[in-house]
Amino acid sequence: MKILVTDQDGAEHELEGLDGWRVMEVIRDWGLNIKAECGGACACATCHVYVDEAWLWKLTPKTDDEDDLLYTAPDVKPNSRLSCQILLSDELDGLKVTLAQSARQ
Ligand code: FES
Repeated sequence: MKILVTDQDGAEHELEGLDGWRVMEVIRDWGLNIKAECGGACACATCHVYVDEAWLWKLTPKTDDEDDLLYTAPDVKPNSRLSCQILLSDELDGLKVTLAQSARQ
């Protein structure tokens, strides 16, 4: 399974992912620039990504906790998500996201 991630400098990366992993974990473990301060506990919003419009409908909807936390992040857009709250599955093979500037370390 692959995910496509555009970093904060506009470079696109094709990353190998695993079923059941969080998108944040894949981005972090491949060494891209993501702060992910709370380690995936939905408590920091520093794993903020923009999801490609074509993929938005395939994602599990945001929980109230994710929605509340996203409001604290800068530059939130309608396609904003916290990447630690997106679990990978075969259905998300090819998922495209862009790292928000606020996720930079
Ligand atoms: S890593 Fe902290 S909210 Fe996602």
